[in-house]
Amino acid sequence: MLVARREERLRALAGELGGEFEVCDVGERRVVEETAERVRARHPGIHLLVNNAGIPGRASFASIDSDRLERLIRVNYLGSVWCLRAFLPALEAAGGADVVNIVSVAGTVAFAPSGPYSASKHAALAFSRAATADLRPRGIRVHTVNPGFVETEGFPQRTALRSRMFRRLVIEPDDVARHVLSVLDRDKRETFVPRVYRLAALAQALAPGLVARAAARSGYRQSHLQSGNE
Ligand SMILES: NC(=O)c1ccc[n+]([C@@H]2O[C@H](COP(=O)([O-])OP(=O)(O)OC[C@H]3O[C@@H](n4cnc5c(N)ncnc54)[C@H](OP(=O)(O)O)[C@@H]3O)[C@@H](O)[C@H]2O)c1
Repeated sequence: MLVARREERLRALAGELGGEFEVCDVGERRVVEETAERVRARHPGIHLLVNNAGIPGRASFASIDSDRLERLIRVNYLGSVWCLRAFLPALEAAGGADVVNIVSVAGTVAFAPSGPYSASKHAALAFSRAATADLRPRGIRVHTVNPGFVETEGFPQRTALRSRMFRRLVIEPDDVARHVLSVLDRDKRETFVPRVYRLAALAQALAPGLVARAAARSGYRQSHLQSGNE
């Protein structure tokens, strides 16, 4: 079951995979609840929920468009919360289920060049960690996956990063997909992909000044995305 906003893409991919799709903006709570109701009518028990939807915010707190800042919180943080809550009855009905929350290294490190995005992912990380502890006793295993820079349509990292050192860290979506499968196989609660980013999270806790200087040196190109321009 594929869930996103662009119907044509969903239709094509669902056709290719032999799957189903629902058009849904996860940032809109009522829409998520109605979508979940429709899905649950067809599939009363769901074994796996992947909260992957997310939007970029390559701008600082000072310069970002206000609507865009609110939208980042709605989609990147609340979107996962609304989906988990709406699909919870179906996850419980499955009698053992997994939830994968795609968060980000930006949820562990205050990356100033995209501060509002980073803040939305900090919220998403706290949500995911809390849900892990909350839901285990109910038979639902929650997994937090924190990718670093991944080259995708929404996050063209190779052009955004000026620093050659940072560009070398960029991985592909397939690397993340393989990682998610291994996380499910090994029942890992929280992981980084690639693993080296665990050091960034440690550095943030132990030496925040060092992280701030490194982020400033990344030469991250900011964009001027508006809320309607994703
Ligand atoms: N790429 C990176 O460097 C990176 C690093 C760390 C974490 N992440 C996270 O990884 C996840 C996937 O990002 P990506 O890099 O693959 O970006 P992407 O290429 O822009 O893909 C984002 C996906 O989310 C869907 N989506 C966006 N907003 C949505 C909404 N409001 N409701 C429903 N679906 C929505 C999009 O489909 P529609 O536009 O059709 O809705 C698209 O399928 C995000 O949570 C992102 O924050 C990315």
